Amino acid sequence: MNTFASRLIAWQRTHGRHNLPWQAQDAYRVWLSEIMLQQTQVATVIPYYQRFVASFPDIAALAAATEDEVLAHWSGLGYYARGRNLHKAAQIIVDQHGGEFPREFEQIVELPGIGRSTAAAVCALAWHQRRAILDGNVKRVLARYCGIEGWAGEKKVEEKLWQQAEALLPEGEVATYTQALMDMGATICTLSKPKCVLCPVQADCVALRTERIAELPSPRPRKAVPERHAVFLLLTHGNDILLEKRPGSGIWGGLWCPPQFDDEDTARNWFLRNGMEASEGEKLEEFTHTFTHFRLHITPLKVQLARKPLRVEQVGRVWLDVEEALRAAIPTPVRAMLNKVVRGESQ
Ligand code: ADE
Ligand code: SF4
Repeated sequence: MNTFASRLIAWQRTHGRHNLPWQAQDAYRVWLSEIMLQQTQVATVIPYYQRFVASFPDIAALAAATEDEVLAHWSGLGYYARGRNLHKAAQIIVDQHGGEFPREFEQIVELPGIGRSTAAAVCALAWHQRRAILDGNVKRVLARYCGIEGWAGEKKVEEKLWQQAEALLPEGEVATYTQALMDMGATICTLSKPKCVLCPVQADCVALRTERIAELPSPRPRKAVPERHAVFLLLTHGNDILLEKRPGSGIWGGLWCPPQFDDEDTARNWFLRNGMEASEGEKLEEFTHTFTHFRLHITPLKVQLARKPLRVEQVGRVWLDVEEALRAAIPTPVRAMLNKVVRGESQ
């Protein structure tokens, strides 16, 4: 029968992606790739994935690493909770599952950082189990193919999409089908200008038939993105720069950043309170970093210190050679600022 699934499976054989480094690999590699691919494009993920498995070739190696080492491999990928959770999950797998990635959906979905769709993807791709996935790409394909209105962030809409995802699942070849759905969503049923003429399911796509491709999936109701400001103090002494480790589970938790302040006055007061003396100071160009939920306007203040103060040498703060700092677990805007510091000094 010419079902949705059978057409996708046939399409996958000739038009799907077959050379991705995590394909036909063990559950650890499938899991790692699914986590990296959650909010990041394939082309960006590939080099990160390769460096990661080279350094941490199995779950035991990942569990034995420090969080700092793991986050250094995540530096620049963003959404660092993914890296922290991956590390925690590896330790749980070693402690509770004898180091073997679990095979039961119920056990997989219990691990930190693994939701229903990611657990199902690992079950389907690594263990060939009959499980439905529903990631961002699949939501878009199903909203269009089935003509489902409403923003997928709403519980009711999401439930409808899950129902369709389950209903369309084939009896066999679930791994190929799952990869087909991902590849079709990424290469054919794209957010803008989908290539419907090349689509294996164009014959009965509701959005195509009713000319609602541009309206589906319904977007998130518009809300203004909050704007925030931050001042970073780039304290340097010779080639060294002062960094501090962010605590806990915030956006940059576990990452290394220069001291951050809400405004320049607060930064200046902190500087003076710590008895520091500048030999040179300069405001670098302001720039903006966009997160999912807000925009951060960043003012970097570069201050060359006359001497290294003793007071800042406390837990969680270190002086690092700038080149060394660039290899540490730092977020993308900090990398941009450090690169400016390096360039500025070599001029
Ligand atoms: N996006 C999420 N998972 C994927 C996979 N396994 N292959 C390609 N893109 C993906
Ligand atoms: Fe998406 Fe077009 Fe295919 Fe419908 S026909 S599923 S809109 S690519």
